[in-house]
Amino acid sequence: MSKKNDDFFVEKKPWSEVKDQLLGCYLKPYVAKILCTRKPLVYVDCFAGKGKFDDGKQGSPLIALEIMQECLASSTIKGVQINSAFIDLNYANDLRTNLKDYPNISIISGAYEDKIDELLQNKADCNVFLYIDPYGIKALDCSKFDEFANGRFHSIELLINMNSFGFIREGCRVMGKQFKMDDDDTFFDELVEYEPTRLDASDKSVVALNHIAGGDYWKSIIEQYINGKINGYEAEEYLSEQYCQRLGQTFKYVLNMPIRIRPGQHTKYRMIHATNHPDGCVLMADNISKRWELMKQIQTGGQMSFFQETVDNQIINEAEIKTNVMKHFSHYDSWTALNETLAGFFVNYGVVCRSGEIAKVLKALEKDGRLEVRRNPRLTEKGKPSTFMAEGHGKTVSVKWVK
Ligand SMILES: C[S@@+](CC[C@H](N)C(=O)[O-])C[C@H]1O[C@@H](n2cnc3c(N)ncnc32)[C@H](O)[C@@H]1O
Repeated sequence: MSKKNDDFFVEKKPWSEVKDQLLGCYLKPYVAKILCTRKPLVYVDCFAGKGKFDDGKQGSPLIALEIMQECLASSTIKGVQINSAFIDLNYANDLRTNLKDYPNISIISGAYEDKIDELLQNKADCNVFLYIDPYGIKALDCSKFDEFANGRFHSIELLINMNSFGFIREGCRVMGKQFKMDDDDTFFDELVEYEPTRLDASDKSVVALNHIAGGDYWKSIIEQYINGKINGYEAEEYLSEQYCQRLGQTFKYVLNMPIRIRPGQHTKYRMIHATNHPDGCVLMADNISKRWELMKQIQTGGQMSFFQETVDNQIINEAEIKTNVMKHFSHYDSWTALNETLAGFFVNYGVVCRSGEIAKVLKALEKDGRLEVRRNPRLTEKGKPSTFMAEGHGKTVSVKWVK
């Protein structure tokens, strides 16, 4: 169902809640960590909206600003600059009204595609975080993301809302077929899209989709779908997987969280996180895991689920996690920072559990003599050998597989 732009802000929908919590709950530890680098943070909400929904709920700009203010107030590190900018094509005036309590922010009226380069000029050596939450897919130019990754920034992270089904539907249209969910005629009615991207069957549209996907790999997925070799849900899964791999050519760690509101229901869209920093990836993986709990509560109307499930609604199989942890860590035959190994695990296997669960398996492997572990500090305050299996707060851990 295509809806008018304005309707989006009438009332904050549950999937917007999950999306904003994913952002907000990540920003807290992210900003705390970034302040420790003592380099300026440049935060850009590239499709900022109004700042506030008409029902009074906070939109992404207010959520981020409140968190950044809290982090600055509570940090012992003083004097680090945070520059935040909010771009919107339609709602700059609303942003000015709704964000008026926050001085020293930039509100930019216009299109992200036209404004972002100028905004990031002279930001070399800064930590840059871009929140990219458009309605459709049109503005998601993959080569732009490559440019960001190869930029001169001290660090760069993206959190992207990717309407993967919207892409599949347009892919079908461009290849002269109509996309229809095999078992659900009302699928696109439920998807509730605002300003969906519409393309026609032309070479120009193929080029447009190539730009968005960062290649033409999407064509063979659409062909398989059209030829009945895969269903629509599989097409969405393959597309998301390959899109993340494509982003992975320029960002070292790419994770995604499917957003779906009812159990058994299929993905509405994907939130994709791209970073070159392992700490960011591990933070986001734990955040995705926690947000997943919230999404599950929304899905089940607050009822507790008997089984533990992954973000893909798969039942968590502890034995499988253990097998995969062993498979993954057996590749580290030289000393490697724990967060680097964990980030690699999440990229390869998806967010199948929290990092704490992997740490438990690693401790057992250490006990069995399969994994060597170096900790700093080596001893506790009481002079006993340290046993922690997590990095941060002045603690570091390196691991090495014992052959
Ligand atoms: C999904 S909404 C953003 C919601 C916001 N993240 C929040 O949580 O409140 C997308 C926004 O992008 C804006 N928009 C549409 N095209 C744009 C473009 N090319 N550049 C910047 N903003 C755009 C729309 O006006 C709309 O407010």
